[in-house]
Amino acid sequence: MRILLLALIMTAFAMPLAVQAADATLGEKTFTKRCAVCHNPLTAQRKIGPGMAGVFGREAESGIGKLTESRLHEWLQNPKSLKPNTRMPKYGPMQDAGLRQAVIDYLKTL
Ligand code: HEC
Repeated sequence: MRILLLALIMTAFAMPLAVQAADATLGEKTFTKRCAVCHNPLTAQRKIGPGMAGVFGREAESGIGKLTESRLHEWLQNPKSLKPNTRMPKYGPMQDAGLRQAVIDYLKTL
């Protein structure tokens, strides 16, 4: 009985951690599904677009300036707002600020 109780308490404490882990991988999952066709996540080598290794804070190859947090938000929300003739498409779900943040947080880890 005591062991069962202990197990229950441990499960309750473990829950918020599991939720956090899910959030941390949301950006990676989204990137894999929607961005990796055009961007290498692990190298700086170009595919259709520039490689994403070390992307956060570096000077953009596309000429949109330094890739800061706010610049990345603008870019992901609507690439054409920063570069009218860009070939990077606007992606509907990137209108969601939370999802955009998750993707940017993932970019920071590359
Ligand atoms: C259809 C291909 C395509 C898809 C899909 C795409 N991109 Fe891009 N991306 C590009 C191209 C092409 C550029 C270069 C833009 C330019 O030079 O005009 C670019 C540029 C970028 C840049 C700026 C890099 C630099 O050095 O200038 C970032 C950051 C970026 N993309 C992130 C993303 C993310 C995150 C996603 C997914 C939500 C995504 N891209 C989806 C093609 C794509």
